[in-house]
Amino acid sequence: MRHHGLLLRACALVLLFLMFVTKFISYKAVNEYGEMAGVQSWTLSGHKVAKLPVPSSVKTLAPQPDQSSAAPALAEWEAVLEKRIQLLSAVCKNSRLRSLTHVPISKFVLDRIFVSDKHNILFCQTPKVGNTQWKKVLIALNGTFSSVEEIPENLVHDHEKNGLPRLSSFKPQEITLRLNTYFKFFIVRDPFERLISAFKDKFITNPRFEPWYKHDIAPAIIRKYRKSHRDGDRVASGLHFEDFVRYLGDAEGRRRMDRQFGEHIIHWATYAELCAPCDIRYDVIGHHETLERDAAHILRRAGIEQLVSYPAIPPGITRYNKTKVERYFSGISKRDIRRLYERYQGDFHLFGYPTPDFLLN
Ligand SMILES: *[C@@H]1O[C@H](CO)[C@@H](O)[C@H](O)[C@H]1NC(C)=O
Ligand SMILES: *[C@@H]1O[C@H](CO)[C@@H](O)[C@H](O)[C@H]1NC(C)=O
Repeated sequence: MRHHGLLLRACALVLLFLMFVTKFISYKAVNEYGEMAGVQSWTLSGHKVAKLPVPSSVKTLAPQPDQSSAAPALAEWEAVLEKRIQLLSAVCKNSRLRSLTHVPISKFVLDRIFVSDKHNILFCQTPKVGNTQWKKVLIALNGTFSSVEEIPENLVHDHEKNGLPRLSSFKPQEITLRLNTYFKFFIVRDPFERLISAFKDKFITNPRFEPWYKHDIAPAIIRKYRKSHRDGDRVASGLHFEDFVRYLGDAEGRRRMDRQFGEHIIHWATYAELCAPCDIRYDVIGHHETLERDAAHILRRAGIEQLVSYPAIPPGITRYNKTKVERYFSGISKRDIRRLYERYQGDFHLFGYPTPDFLLN
């Protein structure tokens, strides 16, 4: 046991040293190519979406100061991904958070997971975190389309036809087999930023013209949670973020409403409720905030990096925007924000997002 401990410590020291060294090497690479070394498939595609299949020689095409810089950068990021998995399993063991982190592997969860049988991949969908792009990547793998942009938008959401069935459509033994043997991943982002994005997308802009958010869900939430019932056209004025926060933070009162809302709640259900990360052993958890690096690693770990590329990400859009979060929560009572945090703190802890003290105190 003691030898084991010593060995671990030695490994940790070596790793620290490597991380230290690569800081300098990768800094140079960032300056020269605007990207970290090791994710050349991104930089090559630039602003256009890379076609597939990407030739296997793609790696050597990118100019590099020397080959040795790529490997440590890769190892460094692997260590980051490994730490996320370790944090997750530690938080899953925390009994205080148990009710927020453990969920049964129900049909609701199996509906969220998409299957690529050709490449042995399971992808759990977490809405508002760039999932459409991931679905396109997986659909492209099926081989019918030669690039991600050629996939029609309506096919992305048609799981009968797009070659990406839900895990729930399989028999129990088939489900178990896939859960036990396939590469599994999902993507998260700051939980409060995700809620803001869901609110904007479903109740303000709603680009996909889904009328039920405005006509069914918003009025129901307003009736139950709006503080002031004075103004006559309160429903016409639309859902306020404050109403939404009060609804989300009300663990008890929400239950009956959510049953009526059905599947639509996936846009604000917690990551734990969607993907059961404490009960399914995922291989990689991607973070929206570091999507470029994470996507490259996910493709590599899934063994599909030669076959497909993740579409180019417009600069800046994945960055956490504290100003935006502050603005949305300004004017909402601390009590309501604390209740909201209590409901979502499992997600904050599981995925290593810092407690938003600037909102709570
Ligand atoms: C995906 O591939 C399977 C088997 O190769 C095929 O039956 C199916 O039609 C394909 N679907 C699409 C949308 O490409
Ligand atoms: C952050 O959000 C604010 C408010 O929505 C916006 O004005 C600003 O441009 C955003 N910053 C970045 C870097 O996107």
